[in-house]
Formats: sequence, C-alpha cells, structure tokens
Amino acid sequence: MSAYFPVHIFQEFILAWYAKNRRDLPWRKVPRNPYHILVSELMLQQTQVSRVLPKFTHFISKWPTIESLADAKLSEVIIEWQGLGYNRRAKHLLETAKIIVHDYQGLFPKDNKELQNLPGFGPYMVSAIRVFAFGMQEPVLDVNVRRIQERTGLEPFAFPQEKADEWHQALMDFGSNICTAKAPACSLCPVSRICQANKEAQRLGFETYAQWLATQPKVKKISKKDIGKKFEETDRYFRGRIIDFLREGSTSMQKVQDHILVTHKLSDRKRFGNIIESLVVDGLIIVEGSTVHL
Ligand code: ADE
Repeated sequence: MSAYFPVHIFQEFILAWYAKNRRDLPWRKVPRNPYHILVSELMLQQTQVSRVLPKFTHFISKWPTIESLADAKLSEVIIEWQGLGYNRRAKHLLETAKIIVHDYQGLFPKDNKELQNLPGFGPYMVSAIRVFAFGMQEPVLDVNVRRIQERTGLEPFAFPQEKADEWHQALMDFGSNICTAKAPACSLCPVSRICQANKEAQRLGFETYAQWLATQPKVKKISKKDIGKKFEETDRYFRGRIIDFLREGSTSMQKVQDHILVTHKLSDRKRFGNIIESLVVDGLIIVEGSTVHL
C-alpha cells in the first residue's frame, strides 16, 4: 500500500498548512540557538507548549547563555522548573550545560555518539538537536510524528528534501492542532482524502476517522506499579509534592514527613522513606543530618 502513497502531495499539503498555521514559538527563531533548542526540548518532553512558553521565556531571561546556566546551582534550576513536573529533566539540563561548557568549550557536539552520551539524551533528543539546531537531514520521531505516520500510512517516514527541520516542526504543529491523539479534526484536515485511517473508517461506514475513534473504548496508559492507583497515590505524585515543599527552602525531615503524611495523606511511613531515598539517589534532594534541601 505504501508504495502507492502519494508522498509528494501529502508533503505539499502539510507544508502549505504549516505556512498558514505555524505557531510563532520563541525557540524557532532563526538563526537557531542550540541552547534554546536544548532548553525547550527538555521542557517539552511530557509538557504542553502552552505550559512551557512562560517557563521558557523566564528561564532564558534568567540564564541567557549556556555558560550562565553552567554556573547555576541545581537547587536554583529545580526552583525554576516549578510547574513543569519531571524534575529529573532539570538535573539533566544542568549537567548537560556543564559538560558542554567544560568539555566542549560551550559548543554543542553534532556527532551522534557524543550527543547520546549527554545526560538524559535518548534518540529523540539527539535528532532534535541535530535537526533543529544544526539542520541535519534525518527523521525526528516524537509521539506526534509517529501518530501521523501510523494513521496516514506514510511509511517509511520520508521528508521533503533538505527540509527536515521545517517538516518536523510542521508535523508537530499539525499533530497538536489537527491530527491530535484523542479527537483529530478530520473535517479540517488537508490530507483527509489520502489518509489511510480515514479511508478505512469510511469503508466501515463512518464519515471520518475521528468519528470512528469516538466509538472506541478509551485506554489509559499506566505503569505497572501504578495500576489501580489514582495519580494522587503514585510515587511520582509524592515526589513532586516533596520537591514543591522544598522549593520554599531547606527544612527538617520531620516537617517534610508531616507534610506528606498529613497534608498529602500518605499513610505508609516506610514508603515515604523509599521515596526520599529515590530522590536522593536521583540527586534531586540532599539530606544533611536531619535537614533536607534541594
Ligand atoms: N514538541 C517537542 N518539540 C517541539 C517543537 N520544537 N515545537 C513544538 N512542539 C514540540
């Protein structure tokens, strides 16, 4: 099937849609600033653009260059990370800044292997830096891109020649505005007529893929450990509340424990100990005697 997929038409329609609808995001300014790409991509992992925007702007005004960030303390970066969640990303960001400043004279490596060795860099981050910061021509596969690929039937994923950067930014906007995960706007979609998922839905008697999707039972992805738990009962939730509490300043372990056990209703003291230990092991908090701080 994919051999007959009209790739060029698909690409032209998506790029035309992007030319009209592109979001004016600060990290997309040209010339591209690799440091801005690094900060924004780390913030955007698991966090929506609308929540990232004000945090990004504030972060860059506080630490305008990678050199200034490399001199920051982890506690300061975690404080700035408030509201973004997944605080380990803040630690990875600071560690990456230090490595780039101290081992690479402040200049980002472009090489795959060197990028892979940076803290928290998986295949997505490596290609995001290579393509968005340096204009390399390779795929950048995030969840939006993969979803569009799977639905439309465009496989293997091809991008317009010499346009990897624009193309992947386009797909990210298209995935967040039209081809969304839960409620795609098939009736506004410029490629609905060549989309495999849409054609299949129509074969089954639906008007659009979105209509078919709405009839499907909702599945929630939950990690094994958290099956059957509300978010407010998960380790990740309590970790976040401990970090939030410590953003106010250093305090005693007893106060942290009271806060989590009483205010946030964690009944298991041993579990509290394990969560504290996991934060220490991850380097997100420091315990000194009976005092705890970021
Ligand atoms: N999500 C991850 N990276 C992004 C980007 N560069 N633009 C918009 N959304 C994104």
